[in-house]
Amino acid sequence: RPALAMDPIAGLMVEEVSLARIADVVGTPTWVYSATTLRRRARSLRDALAEAGLDASIHFATKSNPALAVVNLLHQEGLGADVVSEGELRAARAAGVPASGIVFSGVGKTEREMRLALAEDILQLNIESAEEAEMLSAVAASMGKRARCALRVNPDVDAKTHAKITTGLTENKFGVPIAMAPALYAKMCALPGLDPVGLTVHIGSQIAQGVASYRAAYQRLGQLVRELRAAGHPVLRVDCGGGLGIPYRDETPGTPAALAGAIKAGLGDLGVKIMLEPGRWICGPAGVLLARVIVEKQATTRRFVIVDAAMNDLLRPAMYEAWHGILPVSAAAFHAPLSPADVVGPVCESSDTFTKGRDLPALPPNSLVTFLDAGAYGASMSSTYNARPLAAEVMVEGNRFTVIRDRQSHAALIEGQRLPPADHAGWA
Ligand code: LLP
Repeated sequence: RPALAMDPIAGLMVEEVSLARIADVVGTPTWVYSATTLRRRARSLRDALAEAGLDASIHFATKSNPALAVVNLLHQEGLGADVVSEGELRAARAAGVPASGIVFSGVGKTEREMRLALAEDILQLNIESAEEAEMLSAVAASMGKRARCALRVNPDVDAKTHAKITTGLTENKFGVPIAMAPALYAKMCALPGLDPVGLTVHIGSQIAQGVASYRAAYQRLGQLVRELRAAGHPVLRVDCGGGLGIPYRDETPGTPAALAGAIKAGLGDLGVKIMLEPGRWICGPAGVLLARVIVEKQATTRRFVIVDAAMNDLLRPAMYEAWHGILPVSAAAFHAPLSPADVVGPVCESSDTFTKGRDLPALPPNSLVTFLDAGAYGASMSSTYNARPLAAEVMVEGNRFTVIRDRQSHAALIEGQRLPPADHAGWA
C-alpha cells in the first residue's frame, strides 16, 4: 500500500511519520491521510484521461471525504468538486474550489439548495426526474436565470456491487430510465429556466471487477447522445459518474487507463466534454483510521480485541459488512505469532464489529492498530452515537504532519441543546 511503510524501530509509518508519534501527540481514534498519495492518485487519473485523448474534467465526490484540507489539495491538482447538499457546496467553496468547478448531484435537491447553486453560478446541476426539471426551471426563472443542467440517465446496467451502493438499475431511485430520456430532454430544452448541456450517469460505487459495466453504460449513453442530437438538441457534455473500486481485500477493479478506454469506446468520437465524479478511488487508499486497544477480552470461544474506535467512526463494516485491512502499529507485533481475533468497538451494539476471526498478533491494552483504506466514506459517515465525539483528522506529507480537524470536544457535543422552560412560557 503506497501510503504505508514499516520501520523496524518506529513501526508502521504513513509516509515518513510514525503512527505511534501521531497517537502520542493527537490521541486516538484519529484519521490519517497521506497528502502525497492523494496527489499521486489525482495525477494518475488525470494522466490516464489525457493519454486516452479525452477532453475531461474531474470533480471529486466530496461525500467521500469532505475535509477542507483534502478538497483543497485536490483542487490544487486541478480537480473540481461533485456536491450533493448545501453543506458540501459550502465546504467545496470554503476549500477554495471555484463555482465554475462544481457539479451538484443528488436525488432530492431542495429549492433552497437550487437557489444557492444558481446564485453561486456553479458549473452544472444534475437533474434526476421530470418533476425536478420543472422545479429547477421555476426556481431559475424566478431568479431571472437559466440553470445549466444535465439529465441523469439510469442505463439499467448491473454494476455488480453491494446492493446498498448500486445505483444504475431500474429498481434504484436514481435518474430516469434511458427509454424516457429523449422525451424528457426535449421537454427540458423547452423549459424557460433550463439550459440543458448534456447527460450524466452513475451506475454504482466500489465497482470491483473490471470495467465491463462501465463499457455497457457508456455505449448506451453514446447511442442516446446521437439520438438527442438527431432530434436537434444540444449535447455538449457527458458526466460519466464515479464508482471506480479499490482493492480492500482481493478485488480486481478496473484501472484508470481501462476506465478511460471504456469512456473513449462509448463516447470518444462524439466531441463531448467528459466529466468524472470519483470519490473512493482518489481518497480511499490515502487514509487510515488509527486506534488504540482498550482491552483484550478472552471469552469462552473467542478473543475480542476492544479498540477505542467504533462503528460511529468507521461505519462501513457494520453497514455493508465491508472488509478493511487491519495492521498492528508496533514493529514487534509484525513478527509475533497470529491467532484469530474479533476486533470490536465499545459501542453497545453487536454490529459494532470491525472483523471476526481475523489472524492478528496479541494486542495488549494500549497497543495501536490501524484500519486501512479508510480515507473514503470513513470520517464522512461518522456520527456521534453513544455520545462519542468525532475523531481528529491529520494530514501527513513527507516527514511532517498537521491536524486538519480537531477532535470534537465534549462541550461541543452538548452545545446548542437546552432544557425546556419548566412553566411552558417559552414554548411555541
Ligand atoms: N457520483 C454520484 C452521483 C454518486 O452517487 C457517488 C457515490 C459518486 C459520484 C462517487 O462514487 P465513488 O467514486 O466514491 O464510488 N458509503 C458507501 C458509498 C456510497 C456511494 C454513494 N455515491 C461506501 O462506504 O461504500
